[in-house]
Amino acid sequence: MISFTTFIFTLLALFSLSLSAPMRRDVFVPPIIYPKSGVVWIAGQHHNVTWETDGAPVSITNGIGRVYLANNTIIDLDHPLAIGFDILDGRVSVQVPSVPTGQNYSLVLFGDSGNYSPQFTIIGL
Ligand SMILES: *[C@@H]1O[C@H](CO)[C@@H](O)[C@H](O)[C@H]1NC(C)=O
Ligand SMILES: *[C@@H]1O[C@H](CO)[C@@H](O)[C@H](O)[C@H]1NC(C)=O
Ligand SMILES: *[C@@H]1O[C@H](CO)[C@@H](O)[C@H](O)[C@H]1NC(C)=O
Repeated sequence: MISFTTFIFTLLALFSLSLSAPMRRDVFVPPIIYPKSGVVWIAGQHHNVTWETDGAPVSITNGIGRVYLANNTIIDLDHPLAIGFDILDGRVSVQVPSVPTGQNYSLVLFGDSGNYSPQFTIIGL
């Protein structure tokens, strides 16, 4: 019978393994530079979402990018803000959707793997 402590340590070990796993594969998880935390976007505006492309592996598993909007609970997968661009571009223009004001939003950039931007504000509906 394993002790509760052993159980907790096993969970922690599995958790840190899942966190470090992407580093070992050729998975490119580019950090989003813009939007930054605290930025305010207004519905209808166009903005360049930008991300870090330094350190990209030579062969990327999936180099086709997608950008989605997320509120603090879910990613709106039905309405991508941008699709079909090259993840090595480091930038893609999006139009700010008209969404409810008063929530914390973030963008999720997908290539190989999803990466969240800091939270920002949208003045929408
Ligand atoms: C996005 O960046 C490109 C290249 O720097 C620039 O020409 C364009 O005006 C920018 N778009 C916006 C909405 O800032
Ligand atoms: C996030 O968006 C979903 C879908 O629009 C909505 O149902 C949900 O209430 C939103 N979450 C918050 C915290 O507003
Ligand atoms: C947005 O984030 C701020 C800072 O974390 C928090 O104080 C606020 O309650 C959040 N607002 C919503 C609608 O979740």
